[in-house]
Amino acid sequence: MKLGRIIIRVLVINIAILLVMVSHIGWASAQTQRESDTIPYLSAKLKQLVKFAAPGNLGLNYFILPNSADLKSIPADPQNPLTPEKVKLGQLLFHETALSINPINPKHWQQSSCASCHFAQAGFRSNLPQALGVGGLGWNKSRHRDAVPSVEIDKQNILTPSVLNSAYQKAMFWDGRAGVNGSNAKEPLIQEFDVNRLKLDGLETQAIDAMTVHKLGTAAIATLPEYQELFAKAFPDRPYVTAEVEDLNRAGFAIAAYERTLLANQAPFQRWLKGNEQGMSAQELRGAIVYFSSSCIHCHTGPNLAITDFKSVGFADHPQDFSGLNLGRGVITKRARDDFKFKVPQLYNLADSSPYGHGASFNTVREVVEYFNRAQPQKLEALYAGNLSIWFQPLHLQQQQVDDLTAFLETGLRDPNLTRYLPEQLPSGLCFPNNDPVSRKQLNCD
Ligand code: HEC
Ligand code: HEC
Repeated sequence: MKLGRIIIRVLVINIAILLVMVSHIGWASAQTQRESDTIPYLSAKLKQLVKFAAPGNLGLNYFILPNSADLKSIPADPQNPLTPEKVKLGQLLFHETALSINPINPKHWQQSSCASCHFAQAGFRSNLPQALGVGGLGWNKSRHRDAVPSVEIDKQNILTPSVLNSAYQKAMFWDGRAGVNGSNAKEPLIQEFDVNRLKLDGLETQAIDAMTVHKLGTAAIATLPEYQELFAKAFPDRPYVTAEVEDLNRAGFAIAAYERTLLANQAPFQRWLKGNEQGMSAQELRGAIVYFSSSCIHCHTGPNLAITDFKSVGFADHPQDFSGLNLGRGVITKRARDDFKFKVPQLYNLADSSPYGHGASFNTVREVVEYFNRAQPQKLEALYAGNLSIWFQPLHLQQQQVDDLTAFLETGLRDPNLTRYLPEQLPSGLCFPNNDPVSRKQLNCD
């Protein structure tokens, strides 16, 4: 009897304890659920992850993009020191349709610029699967080919990457063929393509070569007094501009200087990094937490969210690419282990322009996120080659996490004010970024 009562008492006490525990757990989980969606909670959690992703004890600073006027803090090529005068000149030249003086068909004279394919409103991309320079008609999404033979049109069979945050990218192009400066290159110079012959950073090399590739020249601007003054201020050692190659190269230097100041430093994530806890919404914070705790951060890190390296993640080639298969980095290095590897792109302001991937094979940012979540290559040859990155693995994200990560990329990483980088007008007075008859109407230049 006595023993029975003791057993019952112990049981009752145990059940009571259990009940208290269960109710406690329930209460605690309800509490954390509420608390865990508050901005302070999410913000604190993200801070830990971001600090963990930064090398050494750089902390949040590692990811902060400098102010565009703070030229000392922006990475530069020592052979092209940044000055406000050079940046100002570069801003005008990047948009200057008066530079377009070597079209194959004379009817396209002075109709396009660098910004025809890389414009601010599209996050310095082109908002088209295939951007059109010389021989394009119309502005933004409506830009299309003029009815002329294909060779008269300036276009490439690959998606236009952004020049935003390009100060943080060492090698230019999807295959990196405008590579790093000879002195600090990880790889020997690739002589066959002779792209590093100038021994400059990729951005300067690209800008100089692009002048010729995109059929630009300085002869017409040399007749404008305003450009004579601007060149004199930007390059005091040679205070004038002519049609000579030397000045074509200096136009490239000025353009590269301007490109280095194109920084997405007003994006919500940047505001948050700089201490504004309300800078991002709860959903963007949740998405950033997914980003910093999944594979993304292994390849997309640093101030521009992109390492200078080439990785195989199996994206399909461009529908206009009839070369068979684009081997990417392998074309340049001629090493089988580099086949199908492409440049890791920066991730700011992607929502301003579509499609995505070197081959324009994704229409939305969400499609890219879902693709990385599934990790099944679009291009099977990349799988068979055995070069797919070890980080290209299924992530098992739930629908809510996919939504949150997409929101972080689309709005958390979107600087809403990139038009601050546009000039008000050009010294030539011409329409920009395009000056063809269709664009002139659409841009209200007539
Ligand atoms: C016809 C459209 C077009 C015009 C005009 C154009 N670009 Fe590009 N740009 C592209 C495409 C396409 C690529 C990618 C090529 C590749 O990777 O093979 C590119 C790549 C670049 C890159 C490398 C970016 C990166 O992340 O790798 C820079 C920088 C650049 N262009 C700057 C310029 C400058 C400066 C001008 C004017 C002098 C210019 N572009 C004119 C289409 C254009
Ligand atoms: C193994 C390295 C690696 C990992 C991991 C990775 N990426 Fe990428 N990402 C790349 C490369 C390389 C490309 C370009 C591929 C191409 O165009 O062929 C790319 C392209 C993209 C693009 C398209 C950008 C554009 O300009 O078209 C987006 C968006 C993107 N990645 C987001 C993410 C997100 C989000 C994650 C995490 C879920 C992630 N990436 C994980 C290497 C990686």
